[in-house]
Amino acid sequence: MVKFRSRLFGTEFDPPLILASGILDQTAESIQRLIKKGMGGVVTKSIGTEPREGHPNPTIVELDTGLLNAMGLPNQGIEDFKNEMEKLESELEEEPIIGSIFASDPDDFSHLAGKMTRYGADMVELNLSCPHAEGYGAQIASDDEIMERVIKKVDERIQEPILAKLPPSNEIAKNAVLAERSGADGIVCINTVRAMAVNFETQEPILGNKIGGYSGPGIKPIGLRCVYEVYREVDIPIIGCGGITDGRDALEYILAGASALQMGSALHHRGKDAVEKVSKEATELMRKEGIDDIEEIIGGAH
Ligand code: SIN
Repeated sequence: MVKFRSRLFGTEFDPPLILASGILDQTAESIQRLIKKGMGGVVTKSIGTEPREGHPNPTIVELDTGLLNAMGLPNQGIEDFKNEMEKLESELEEEPIIGSIFASDPDDFSHLAGKMTRYGADMVELNLSCPHAEGYGAQIASDDEIMERVIKKVDERIQEPILAKLPPSNEIAKNAVLAERSGADGIVCINTVRAMAVNFETQEPILGNKIGGYSGPGIKPIGLRCVYEVYREVDIPIIGCGGITDGRDALEYILAGASALQMGSALHHRGKDAVEKVSKEATELMRKEGIDDIEEIIGGAH
């Protein structure tokens, strides 16, 4: 029996495919539907301390090789999100819930992490990588001192595993080492890649925010490079993310060094059954190659 699943931080991800933050995860109902379609775990949308509207429309552009988004971290704020977490908790059986949080300083991160875990998150993902929200995300990761303080503060506050979601910079391995040293239990790489689209006819940027984040098949080589570089430098597990669209992509990420995977844009490209399809394809490929367990091939490309 081929084992396409993984155990991280004492938790089973079966399959090792997790819904990435920000896709179809606005409500407990939409998350629940994806779990029924075979997701091994979910990351919530990124939640902040207060409600936030996000960037002006248009916020999404469809490209030939992926999606460009500039949502701008819209969310209802942590207090209101409690209701969604309670619904999710009561509806999910064993699938882990990873609460994604964003803030601009260590105290707010720590406050949010405390609330997320109190409301039922099994783990917390720190959004240190949104590429287009002023004062948040990638701007935190670009400052070593703040990033270190954020992770240390969260580590002092919660017992649950902390995942640091990092941006795809040239410094990602250095960032990951700092995150590990500061108390992160796992690294998620990568978030979307800072990018834009221009309309030839109107001669203007298309996105309301002008700059957004690029996801989908076009960024897979960047994601693989990041996982590969991070794997060489840290001892904590890596969750790979970026353009995973079929079973072969998933196994390539594992060969680069990922122990589990996140999927987002694939749900747009292949529909809500994407996870079932990717699981089936990966399992068949493993069977064909005589691989019994993904444990055998994590980091195999090194
Ligand atoms: C967004 O809300 O703009 C996307 C979140 C992210 O890129 O981390």
